[in-house]
Amino acid sequence: MEEKNAKKVMLSGIQPSGDLTLGSYLGAIKNWSERAEIFDCYYFMADLHSITVRQNPADLRRRTIEQLAQYIACGLDPEKNTLFIQSHVPAHTQLGWVLNCYTMFGELSRMTQFKDKSAKNAENINGGLFTYPALMAADILLYQPDYVPVGSDQKQHVELCRDVATRFNNIYGDVFKIPEPYIPKVGARVMSLVSPENKMSKSDKDPNGTVYLLDQPDVIMRKFKKAVTDSDTERCVHYDLANKPGVSNLMSIYSACTGKTFEEIEAEFEGQGYGAFKPAVGEAVVETLRPIREESERLLKDKAYLETVYKAGADKASYIANKTLRKVYKKVGFVVK
Ligand code: TRP
Repeated sequence: MEEKNAKKVMLSGIQPSGDLTLGSYLGAIKNWSERAEIFDCYYFMADLHSITVRQNPADLRRRTIEQLAQYIACGLDPEKNTLFIQSHVPAHTQLGWVLNCYTMFGELSRMTQFKDKSAKNAENINGGLFTYPALMAADILLYQPDYVPVGSDQKQHVELCRDVATRFNNIYGDVFKIPEPYIPKVGARVMSLVSPENKMSKSDKDPNGTVYLLDQPDVIMRKFKKAVTDSDTERCVHYDLANKPGVSNLMSIYSACTGKTFEEIEAEFEGQGYGAFKPAVGEAVVETLRPIREESERLLKDKAYLETVYKAGADKASYIANKTLRKVYKKVGFVVK
């Protein structure tokens, strides 16, 4: 019997293209564990998408597993969320092909991510990079989600997904639910520690600007001690985004880790200067990340457990995805066995 699911469905893909950072944790992932109370959540490691850009095979494999472990360590409970690896569910590629035939060349040509990525990888402008949004539409539509949480860089792809789904539905009847992009409640906006006018990014060229979830405490402390502040002779810990971007960023981080308000932080460090403030922020971050790093390390030693997680995830995802795929195959006129 079909189980009646009253919860709305949410789905998101994560490219296993780099290590997770303090910025992605405080800004987003931290809030994800509570989502499972309200939504039926699917998260997958988008390994099929990753190979549109050349990857080192051993690194891709390692990062896919590391990323799964880190998300679990950040609080995504595999019992409450469906966590899986995209290439384990063949329906993604299968529906991806069908949707390629319902996505227009002109639409794909307008995608800003394609234009950016092909400018950056002029020696490898492959077909997959171009048709990537059709695969992403398949990723989404297979699960009939209500919401797709994405950052602003992916909004255009979700819009295209809606257009393709609407086009398909207009021809064949209501096959796909039209998903809404979901702009998540933002946590702290964390900037680079060396150039506080830029967002903290996993692809920052200067490794001192970014704190990784798996950084050891001494590495974290070193990065915070080196963090850029300003030339204020008073060395005053005061929130002023325009004139003191470095200090303001450190205050946001400290606030997100300790729950203290900016006023409380200003009072705490009054008259003490940056020399006391910077290591205090470092220590707060070390304590915030400690349980995540320890749990990630523990999980990564337990390969058998991670395997049970991604296998169960793929089974659950396949069951849902294959139902949609079968419907689509019938609609377009394939002989369904
Ligand atoms: N394209 C997304 C990114 O680069 C990852 C992704 C793949 C995705 N498939 C998805 C996100 C489906 C949301 C839904 O970040």
